[in-house]
Amino acid sequence: MFKQAGIRRMPVALKSSVAASVRNHSHLPLATKITLPNGKTYEQPTGLFINNEFVPSRQSKTFEVINPSTEEEVCHVYEGREDDVNIAVDAAEKAFKSGVWSRAHPQVRMRALNKLADLIEADAETVASIESLDNGKAIQHARGDVALAVAYLRSVAGWADKVDGRVIETDSEHFTYTKREPIGVVGQIIPWNFPLLMWSWKVGPALATGNTVVLKTAESTPLSALYVSKFVAEAGIPPGVLNIVSGFGKIVGEAISTHMKIKKVAFTGSTATGRHILAAAAHSNLKKVTLELGGKSPNIIFDDANVEQTVQNLLVGIFYNSGEVCCAGSRLYVQEGIYDEVLEAFKTAAEAIKVGDPFDDATFQGAQTSQQQLDKILSYVKKGKEEGARVITGGERLGNKGYFVKPTIFADVKEDFTIVKEEIFGPVITISKFKTLDEIVDKANDSEYGLAAGIHTTSLSTAIEASNRLEAGTVWVNTYNDFDPQTPFGGFKQSGIGREMGTEALDNYTNVKAVRMRI
Ligand code: NAI
Ligand code: MG
Repeated sequence: MFKQAGIRRMPVALKSSVAASVRNHSHLPLATKITLPNGKTYEQPTGLFINNEFVPSRQSKTFEVINPSTEEEVCHVYEGREDDVNIAVDAAEKAFKSGVWSRAHPQVRMRALNKLADLIEADAETVASIESLDNGKAIQHARGDVALAVAYLRSVAGWADKVDGRVIETDSEHFTYTKREPIGVVGQIIPWNFPLLMWSWKVGPALATGNTVVLKTAESTPLSALYVSKFVAEAGIPPGVLNIVSGFGKIVGEAISTHMKIKKVAFTGSTATGRHILAAAAHSNLKKVTLELGGKSPNIIFDDANVEQTVQNLLVGIFYNSGEVCCAGSRLYVQEGIYDEVLEAFKTAAEAIKVGDPFDDATFQGAQTSQQQLDKILSYVKKGKEEGARVITGGERLGNKGYFVKPTIFADVKEDFTIVKEEIFGPVITISKFKTLDEIVDKANDSEYGLAAGIHTTSLSTAIEASNRLEAGTVWVNTYNDFDPQTPFGGFKQSGIGREMGTEALDNYTNVKAVRMRI
């Protein structure tokens, strides 16, 4: 398997220069055996993935990968720097210009993406375990991520041969048509909350439309993207088409967003970093930018909602993936007639979910992904208490080893509280009361963000009126965090630019060319 994927200890081309620059460093192997908490052992690639080979970084620097549920080291992986990004971009540019992918019949790309999906699916349990180990998420959610990533690759593979243009009727002296062409080398920067799923949302449409890719994983979760890279050659994706450079935002991320040869950058992460990347694109080569950023999404319950079903949606809305979800329903608004009933039922349900060991099949909420994220969440919890919010349940760390936080509900909050305004990105929800639809639409929309919103009601007209008036890229009615590969996802306002999934994702990765012929 590794042989097919092209792992070797030292690529010939780099051998002399790397050997010279690392003489004083101990050399990390390009793959390491890892024993998962479930007892299974697998081989984890640790190199950068360039030209369908795992290679050491030029400076042979490495960084530590932490298991957030034990705080112990899992392994080290190679850390890319600017010179590695340059090598990856050159490989991607060469592959793009060769036409082996960009000008191949779309069915070549369709077949390769389907094969990649098949190979990941056949190894789904290992991939899910790696995701859970690295990110800390519950294995049941990691399995769901892998299934969604596989489904998305297949969905976008199906679009590969359906990208088309149109003939425009003007006058009898002209023949005018449009076509959609791949953009070129695409840079992609992904976060740590859904490492594999975000890899699929980025890589899928870029490759389906014929681009070549240099992708940076998040520094706290580099493992799953490297692991699935071993399937790339076997899937039939040519060398240089998909390259992965592990590393840090300020180095690799910066090198990607300022690179003169990268024609488009796609990013998922914080609004602050998204803003920075947009500016970097403006100051370098005006590369096209798509951003999927933060949120503070309202989840709204009307008096006529089915409370039992709604409470299940609330749990998924805020505690799924340990609350590390950009579209988490973190601001809960309950109509006054059922406020007390919902509060009581939600408290009981929140206290019943299993929090802890991500590898326990029954666990719903695993660990937060990093010490930094744990600290951030706990500082918001402290702030909420200081601001005078009432703790209904939780409000503290769980245990003292591993980054676990008790599911936390704050009630009776005011709209100007920091915990109501700012994204916490953890298992913390705020609740307040409302009277009328007009009032709740104003409150819900009073946010710099506009990623998602939830509505719970049995009235069709309430559902339609509220969803029409909410400023959000996605509105879920009587469901929440409910994704589908054909359904576009992205933000209004400061939650982002562009859409992922659906046919909309293809627009991000193609240039429209108009051809006008005089006849
Ligand atoms: P971040 O936005 O800084 O990191 C996300 C990705 O951007 C990572 O791959 C990181 O290495 C990269 N990055 C960081 N600085 C960069 C730069 N200057 N240029 C290019 N790339 C750069 O987010 P971070 O610090 O990991 O988390 C902070 C907060 O961001 C979280 O607490 C959460 O509120 C939010 N966040 C939102 C996500 C979402 O899905 N919308 C995902 C991750 C974080
Ligand atoms: Mg980790």
